[in-house]
Amino acid sequence: MCGIVGYIGPRQAAGLLIDGLRRLEYRGYDSAGIAVVNGHGLKIMKAAGKLSVLENELKEKMPEGTIGIGHTRWATHGAPTTTNAHPHTDQSGRIAVIHNGIIENSSVIRKALQQRGHVFKSETDTEVLAHLVGELYQGNLEEAVASALREVDGAYGLVFLSSDEPGVLVAARKGSPLLVGVGENEWFIASDASPLLQYTRSVVYLDDGEMAVLTREGYRVRNLETARISKEVNQIDWDLAQSERGGYPHFMLKEICEQPESIWNTLRGHLLEEDGTARVTGLNLTDEELKQFERVIITACGTSWHSGIIGEYMLEEMARLPVEVEYASEFRYRNPVVDPRTLVIGISQSGETADTLAAVREAKRRGARTIGLVNVVGSTIAREVDGGIYLHAGPEVGVASTKAFTSQVAALALISLRIARLRNLSILQGRQFVEALQRLPAQAAQILERASEIEQLADRFLRTTRNALYLGRGVNFPVALEGALKLKEISYIHAEGYPAAEMKHGPIALIDENMPVVFIAPRDAVHSKIVSNIEEVKARGGKVIALINEGDSEIERLADATFTIPETLDLLTPILTSIPLQLLSYYVAVSRGCNVDQPRNLAKSVTVE
Ligand code: G6P
Repeated sequence: MCGIVGYIGPRQAAGLLIDGLRRLEYRGYDSAGIAVVNGHGLKIMKAAGKLSVLENELKEKMPEGTIGIGHTRWATHGAPTTTNAHPHTDQSGRIAVIHNGIIENSSVIRKALQQRGHVFKSETDTEVLAHLVGELYQGNLEEAVASALREVDGAYGLVFLSSDEPGVLVAARKGSPLLVGVGENEWFIASDASPLLQYTRSVVYLDDGEMAVLTREGYRVRNLETARISKEVNQIDWDLAQSERGGYPHFMLKEICEQPESIWNTLRGHLLEEDGTARVTGLNLTDEELKQFERVIITACGTSWHSGIIGEYMLEEMARLPVEVEYASEFRYRNPVVDPRTLVIGISQSGETADTLAAVREAKRRGARTIGLVNVVGSTIAREVDGGIYLHAGPEVGVASTKAFTSQVAALALISLRIARLRNLSILQGRQFVEALQRLPAQAAQILERASEIEQLADRFLRTTRNALYLGRGVNFPVALEGALKLKEISYIHAEGYPAAEMKHGPIALIDENMPVVFIAPRDAVHSKIVSNIEEVKARGGKVIALINEGDSEIERLADATFTIPETLDLLTPILTSIPLQLLSYYVAVSRGCNVDQPRNLAKSVTVE
């Protein structure tokens, strides 16, 4: 969380930084700021609220300067006020810093600095860092930053700028992503590639413990101990158009509608029709190794955790392997039983979620083999795992994850198929599974063509409600969780996802004529059971909206409204049932006037614990 961008080169920096921040705003959007250096020294502009507030303030008085830094914030220490917004400066006001992460020993350092006469303006841990560097500064920003960081505990991605050295940006990374953009006679530093894509595709990913020094002559990577490090320059393979809205009113809708393509992009090149299996060479595991795992632990957060539960159903059903799905934040602080016979799968759209990263590291430390299902190429989790599958879903900008979810499920299907075929699944069953996977993109497109039906359901049942229940069974139970999460995240309606049969043990008490209940009820192995659950809701006056397969007259008769989804194998239904639920929450949120792409308090990539 928090977006960072820095620039040094021949262009005017301020406009470029604002432009970059717009692309990074999904990382946090409670305040923003920029700093540039010009002939008059350091010029800082910042404002609480969305980036547009800062842009308005800058309209008339865009500061000049060809070196600068910019930040969009997601508050951790201190409220989202202008004073707490970044950049922060040192005591002299000549050194500025932007920072993503948390300095854990900031209060100790703050106290010591105060005793030495430092006066702080904000409540942030970042300002402490600025003061510390200011105190250590003896004419060399790079050395002052390196010395300060030796005293600091915690996580950071940061960039320093000083009016005393108008040709240097000093960046450092520990725990929060940073990359250097290598242009022609210009250099960038950013949390991810989106702000620099229009200028260059060449990037250098910084690793933990590394610093980058950008000057007008070039860039250099080093560690805190001053050793120079040679780094590979990587090429980004997605373009700007993919990360722009392209005519859609919101990124979220664009990303929902991209799913026929994004699902296929995940599957593409992996399916072996003849052999009825999947090629997943990226796992870096031989067939022998894959066969030997005795259990699987899937760890993730948020939406990715939900796809993990679907993975559990798939792997257990198809490969007969015991699977546990763990919230990454819990896994890392428990004393998990993990050994070399455990395969640990970390799932993360961004590849930067702090808890998931820490869980993967913990698993590695305990000797497990780790694989990652990650969307963002070159992200930290992707680089730290032993192997994995890139989702190739394309950039996901809307804070509520949509296309990454269906791609995660598709990737889990690939892994399940591969392992299952090595263990017990017949070639015939494998071929059926491959065929079903191949049909999914077209089936997703059929659902999307009928988006207006969902828009009507949203208006009729959910727009004005205060609560909603989502119920599903089997592999569609996690879809119920995900449907409820989507609604909560972007429309602020309280929603709960539950296994349909568990409803009797509590949530049933909430059901009355004001409670919309969304059932995910394709014609699968538990269909007859879910029909009984629908009866139970109807008997109590609840309003039932059901996702069903074509021709399910039984549920059509019972439900207040239905939406049909195409038939597929039971285990693959989540890829199709989740799409109408994404649309449902989207239309509800839009009709309630909510900020769909940037819901309050949330951030796309949570890089703090
Ligand atoms: C945040 C986002 C969610 C996302 C979760 C995990 O909470 O708002 O949409 O599911 O992080 O993110 P990851 O990038 O690890 O999948």
